[in-house]
Amino acid sequence: MERTLAIIKPDGVARGLIGEVIKRIEEGGFKIVAAKMLHLTRAQAQGFYAVHRERPFFNDLTAFMSSGPAVALVLEAENAIARWRELMGATDFRKAAEGTIRRAFATDIEKNVVHGSDAPETAAFEISYFFNRFEFVG
Ligand code: CMP
Repeated sequence: MERTLAIIKPDGVARGLIGEVIKRIEEGGFKIVAAKMLHLTRAQAQGFYAVHRERPFFNDLTAFMSSGPAVALVLEAENAIARWRELMGATDFRKAAEGTIRRAFATDIEKNVVHGSDAPETAAFEISYFFNRFEFVG
């Protein structure tokens, strides 16, 4: 079994998509083993996306991610990292496959509704960024 971090980003929460995203996660066969709602500070968003700090979109991205409440979830499944990325679709919603969350709901390369870890090392970092060991079930 593998674990990955999923975030329903501030655009997804503001647009009333929490239920829709969680429905797709549950129907996709993932077990949700941790969950919380939180409004990141700018500094917390900068720490989370530290790998992107040299990218031209870093300032906008961290402003957006701290602009409103988000939902963080830890998903468990066989190949959870790859499978959650498949369900989300490509970062750029215009390139995302039919049937994916981003294809259906994203409006912008930045406001793309959901986040998912991209590798085992980033999943470990990202999960521990949001959750301590007492916050898991199952
Ligand atoms: P996410 O999967 O959370 O990882 C980095 C985020 O940066 C990405 O989703 C987008 O929300 C945002 N972003 C904004 N512009 C770009 C870009 N040009 N390329 C990749 N990611 C971008």
